[in-house]
Amino acid sequence: MAFQLKMNRSAKEKHSNLILALDLPPLEPSQLLSRSINLLEKVYPYICAVKINRHLVLPLGLSNGIQKIVGFAHDLGLPAIMDCKINDIGNTNRVIAELYYNAGFDAVIANPFVGWDEGLQPVFETAKKQHRGVILLVYMSHKGALEGYGQKIIESKDGKLTSQYLVFAEKALSWNADGAVVGATFPEKIEEIYAVLKERVPIYSPGVGAQGGNIGAAVVAGARYLIVGRSITLAEDPENTARSLRDIINECAKNSLED
Ligand code: XMP
Repeated sequence: MAFQLKMNRSAKEKHSNLILALDLPPLEPSQLLSRSINLLEKVYPYICAVKINRHLVLPLGLSNGIQKIVGFAHDLGLPAIMDCKINDIGNTNRVIAELYYNAGFDAVIANPFVGWDEGLQPVFETAKKQHRGVILLVYMSHKGALEGYGQKIIESKDGKLTSQYLVFAEKALSWNADGAVVGATFPEKIEEIYAVLKERVPIYSPGVGAQGGNIGAAVVAGARYLIVGRSITLAEDPENTARSLRDIINECAKNSLED
């Protein structure tokens, strides 16, 4: 099944648009594995997918620990996203995508700064062959995003001044990306990018909680999925925290539909 359909189905079944960023603090590999499984067992009813980052891939390795976590997430009905921000030459990008897809990941995150030709084209080709997803960074959640994603550029096709992130949003459409990452810390950027993407490319938004983003503002601006890490992984009661985040997201989505 195509990645976007998997996400739609999971969100509907779980009645949740919350994605857990499974970022645990540094621990021994065996502890990381058991803590990851334990956390998923607690929060899985309230989330629609899990996103994994270098916090787990580096200490656990792909072929052993990570595959167990991805397999466990799948057993719980959760798609798994690899936040690897693919950012190299095409040949290397293809190898990275294949390794993550072969480990079971349903989607990878990639950086449009490297371009299409000999850049991300091989990633999209590999994804298509394996029925997996590619989510593009369009505007990151940290302050420094302004220096790259936020810079003003002159478009080569017509010489007009525009913003880098708007060009990336157009690329998300023309490359048929399965999602666009836009930081919840910049709801005004979400709104502008949503105006380009509409419902064709869903917006995945990290940055609420620890980074200071606001769920309501992000959802009203057009974010479909909220990605939350430390507010859940470091919580005293991750289960209740995930449940209440899910409820807040649902409430905000309901209110924004009614407005
Ligand atoms: P926290 O703890 O801040 O975790 O809730 C957020 C997670 O998301 C990652 N992150 C991003 N990933 N584009 C991405 O692809 C972004 O703009 C972005 N901002 C945060 C972060 O590394 C962590 O895993």
